[in-house]
Amino acid sequence: MNNPADSGPMPTHTPDAGVLRQAFRQTRLRRPPFWLMRQAGRYLPEYRALREGAPNFLQFCYTPGLTTEAALQPLRRFGMDAAIVFSDILVVPHALGADVRFIEGVGPRLQPIRSTGDVAALVTDRLEERLEPVYAGVEGLRRALGPEMSLIGFAGAPWTLACYMVEGQGGTEAASARRWGYADPEGFGALVAILTDAVVRHLGCQIARGADVVQLFDSWAGLLSEQQFRRWVIAPTAAIVARLKAEWPAVPIIGFPRGAGVLHQAYVEETGVDGVGLDAAVPADWAADHLQAKVLVQGNLDNQLLVAGGVAMDREIDRLLSVLGQGRYVFNLGHGVLPETPPEHVARLAERVRAWPGAEGSR
Ligand code: CP3
Repeated sequence: MNNPADSGPMPTHTPDAGVLRQAFRQTRLRRPPFWLMRQAGRYLPEYRALREGAPNFLQFCYTPGLTTEAALQPLRRFGMDAAIVFSDILVVPHALGADVRFIEGVGPRLQPIRSTGDVAALVTDRLEERLEPVYAGVEGLRRALGPEMSLIGFAGAPWTLACYMVEGQGGTEAASARRWGYADPEGFGALVAILTDAVVRHLGCQIARGADVVQLFDSWAGLLSEQQFRRWVIAPTAAIVARLKAEWPAVPIIGFPRGAGVLHQAYVEETGVDGVGLDAAVPADWAADHLQAKVLVQGNLDNQLLVAGGVAMDREIDRLLSVLGQGRYVFNLGHGVLPETPPEHVARLAERVRAWPGAEGSR
């Protein structure tokens, strides 16, 4: 497979419909599909303009006309092979009654939950009703995409959601959440159990309304010791996968346990995910040797390299494609697109991945 002309027409800017789902079934496609975490967002001037249409970020997330449009923007410019529902992981705590705010230029802030009483005060029975605007947006997006194009639904994993709820913000060492998990595993476990159930219902609703692949973001998985990783990351993820598979056996589930290091192996073996997202610190050849025989892998270009661009970025794209492109693979970043990313660099990446494996002898 050296010359793409031998294996069918080259897509120009039109994405290959359905190629993301195919990637889970076939060992090797003509080229790996690609999408980028946070592909919609502030690095795009058209997103910044659209964002003016709502008074705050949560309101934006609950306005189906705006979320549908935001999700389509990167596809129009760069022709990714999948759209991702435009929402946020923190809509789940919000729907459970947590006080969630997004402060412009700072990030999310929540009223911290620290006790069994705080957990008991969460409202679990109105999730679907409160998140209906999200699902209406999913439905609109599916209509706009047509039946074939992949649409990725997502949720934060219970541990990562619990980190935000207990700490009141992200980017910490999650000291209070970790301590609570050790000192009172039943109490902290009650919060994780509520989140596990909420995530299953939230992903199920997105699938029912048009998502055909889902991703679980466990952004703070890397903060845990091995035993706690098993308890608060692997166990709830396995429960989520089992419940979703019972109802939606054909929908691939991608887990993204950011920072898990060698525990990626236990994660893929014990959760039942169909694919695993890799952060930029995971060596591609280690992933090829230890993970790829069991699951599809996704990742893991450093998002700072996408900001830097140039020949260094080109080389690393080629390296990832050649190391991981031999097996089931979805090209992506190791974490989300940063707001300071030049859109031209994203265009260059898209062109390079789409042209893979390119003309023989040029690499
Ligand atoms: O294009 C997409 O990927 C879909 C949309 C999406 C957003 N957030 C939109 C968003 C997705 C998949 C997320 C996931 C998310 N949200 C995660 C998991 C991935 C990760 O980054 O680890 C997390 C931890 C969050 C929580 C969150 N939301 C933070 C920490 C922040 C502030 C930091 C920042 O980048 O501003 C947000 C806000 C947010 N979510 C924005 C967007 C586009 C920016 C806010 C705005 O536009 O005003």
